[in-house]
Amino acid sequence: MIPDSTSRRGKQAADSAGRVLIFDTTLRDGEQSPGASMNLEEKIQVAEILEAMGVDVIEAGFPIASNGDFEAVSEIARRVKDSVVCGLSRAGAKDIERAGEALRHAERGRIHSFISTSPVHMKHKLQMEPEQVLDAIVASVTLARNLVDNVEWSAEDATRTDRDFLCRCVEAAIKAGATTINIPDTVGYTVPTEYADIFTMLRTRVPNADKAIFSTHCHNDLGLAVANSLAGVGAGARQVECTINGLGERAGNAALEEIVMALRTRADVMPYDTGINSQMIARASKVVSSVTSFPVQYNKAIVGLNAFAHESGIHQDGMLKHTQTYEIMTPETVGVKQTSLVMGKHSGRHAFIHKLEELGYKLGDNQLEDAFTRFKALADRKKQIYDEDIEALVDEEIAHAQDRVKLVSLSIIAGTRGPQRATMKLDIDGRGVLEECEGNGPVDAIFNCIKTLVPHEAVLELYQVHAVTEGTDAQAEVSVRLAEKGRSVTARGADPDTLVASAKAYLGALNKLMVRRQRGGVAVSEARVHSTDVG
Ligand code: KIV
Ligand code: ZN
Repeated sequence: MIPDSTSRRGKQAADSAGRVLIFDTTLRDGEQSPGASMNLEEKIQVAEILEAMGVDVIEAGFPIASNGDFEAVSEIARRVKDSVVCGLSRAGAKDIERAGEALRHAERGRIHSFISTSPVHMKHKLQMEPEQVLDAIVASVTLARNLVDNVEWSAEDATRTDRDFLCRCVEAAIKAGATTINIPDTVGYTVPTEYADIFTMLRTRVPNADKAIFSTHCHNDLGLAVANSLAGVGAGARQVECTINGLGERAGNAALEEIVMALRTRADVMPYDTGINSQMIARASKVVSSVTSFPVQYNKAIVGLNAFAHESGIHQDGMLKHTQTYEIMTPETVGVKQTSLVMGKHSGRHAFIHKLEELGYKLGDNQLEDAFTRFKALADRKKQIYDEDIEALVDEEIAHAQDRVKLVSLSIIAGTRGPQRATMKLDIDGRGVLEECEGNGPVDAIFNCIKTLVPHEAVLELYQVHAVTEGTDAQAEVSVRLAEKGRSVTARGADPDTLVASAKAYLGALNKLMVRRQRGGVAVSEARVHSTDVG
């Protein structure tokens, strides 16, 4: 039996009716986005920032899905002390036992078990009768409660579930020992008024409803995830499931930063508190974007590049007269600082270390040394170095420190008179290899070299370039997504030379695929497809 698993923060929260628990599922639902996979070190980095910013529950993964997921949940459970660490499981005994095993060392562990309750899911996905589903709920929650004190149960596709049946399922789950009841809008189908009515109905009709905390879990297929979550809170839900940057299956989940800032900014009409230190939001967004290589849309609320930019003359004039004319919250509240011209080639090690601390990085000695050498090399080529340049450089250093295949050198012949040629030297496990290839353009020539030097079947799904800062000498940041046997991974590379950045990004993705192959196991999305494993 795992010791007391109620969070320190959760205990305080339970005493206060206006406190909403933040359950972050970036590492589980977020990681289910095609191409958003993270390795163990990256997951730990995300978990650490989630804990530091005050997240109440961190859903760290789906332990049965793969050895990698199991390892990540156990390692995060070992390290995180202030937040509850949660592992997802389907309703089958094997899933639940595996989740319990992964949480063995958690100071506060939660098993989150789910099963579908809607007619369409029960009939076509589970091929089970409603009474069998009810039995599975009781069996799964009872087993989970034998392993941990803190059990969450979710009615997958709750918003398309028959209301009477949903009441019976929720009552049964609470009776069997569930302490949190989650009502997911799995397919992003509901609207705010309807979602609020479901919580009101459950809290009124289910006789033991007061024995559990109700939770929202909204997907964004109609762009309503945040609105629906807030409507759920208004109707009595006291836990919101969300992800940094709104990452998640398909159109994503409710964005943590939007939920937190909506509650904070409009406390006058939504008098609910979260325990989140909002000043860490910008940093968390950058870390998640960097480790998943998922760019944040420029006009994304709260964390987009333009979220606090005022372009039109009328707005700029208003802002100069009084910031509140066009600003409902300050950029500082979410940790956005003014872009600063930071350094140049005369900046020393001390200033570099100070800047890293200011940006929220903690590097080991070797990583710091490598990052400083790369900073100096960049400063030789680029006169003005901004915070964003340093972030791109250090993020790349962290992401690729363990890579088996590294770029040593690259030269290109490109231009109007083809054929374009690339000559590339790689370091593969400490061995230097050289290749020269032609291609339909320089990027194609580079990727052909990599394919020859490191033969693989992966397919290029995405190639995207953007400038890290302004100016023609800006670093290019390239994102590459590769897919192999139903799994996809994304990586980024940054360099003042777009072609070098392209090579680094492709190699980064290839390295990630190699790690995934080594770790083996079923991809999370595959495990979800086979979520009929209930008995
Ligand atoms: O969207 C969903 O239904 C889920 C459950 C597993 C909670 O992610
Ligand atoms: Zn979900």
